[in-house]
Amino acid sequence: MTIYDKYILPKVVDYACKQSPNMQQRMKVITLATGNVLEIGIGSGLNLPLYNNENVKHLTAIDPSIEMWDKNVIDTNNLSFDFDFVKAYAENIPEEDNSFDSVVITYALCTIPDTSKALEEVRRVLKTKGKLIFCEHGKAPDKAVQKWQNVINPLWKRLGGGCNLNKDIQLIIEENGFKMDNLEKRYIPGWKPASFNYWGVAKPN
Ligand SMILES: C[S@@+](CC[C@H](N)C(=O)[O-])C[C@H]1O[C@@H](n2cnc3c(N)ncnc32)[C@H](O)[C@@H]1O
Repeated sequence: MTIYDKYILPKVVDYACKQSPNMQQRMKVITLATGNVLEIGIGSGLNLPLYNNENVKHLTAIDPSIEMWDKNVIDTNNLSFDFDFVKAYAENIPEEDNSFDSVVITYALCTIPDTSKALEEVRRVLKTKGKLIFCEHGKAPDKAVQKWQNVINPLWKRLGGGCNLNKDIQLIIEENGFKMDNLEKRYIPGWKPASFNYWGVAKPN
């Protein structure tokens, strides 16, 4: 691991993810999580204060980066639901089949290298009637913005710890065993190549 990846990247990612437009997006979806919840790629835990304490029974969070988790924003001992953090990849979730009511992914599908494998794992651990709650940035609808997303992506990915600007989040979710229960898509305030957002709830097919 490089010095940049260990010391600088976690600060850069945490700073970018906690900008007000992104925080407002999180608020639209995180309160939908209920029951036994799995959050994938929790990063610095920016969603933790937003969960509805009355609806969440237990939250398991996974992330392969201890450096990101070390930046965590709140003391997890003070949460009013049970919580564990597990160092793990979405492509190989160390949890039982059919065990979660909700799986939450925010601003992480952009970075997860094998999204097909990750969503196969999400389907495996989700209960049949469970829900995938997501909020992501990705491929913009306008050709001019798409062009910039594609041009900048190699450099962005290097500096952003593997984050891609141009993933088609809707297609990725729908092609990997989920159907949309509700989906919203729109630019949020910010730099256009990184601000086309997709958010909503999908259910296993
Ligand atoms: C841009 S950050 C977003 C963090 C957090 N979800 C948020 O909304 O603030 C992307 C996160 O995905 C994590 N990540 C990268 N590869 C992953 C993988 N294969 N499986 C699960 N998480 C991964 C990174 O370590 C990082 O914490």
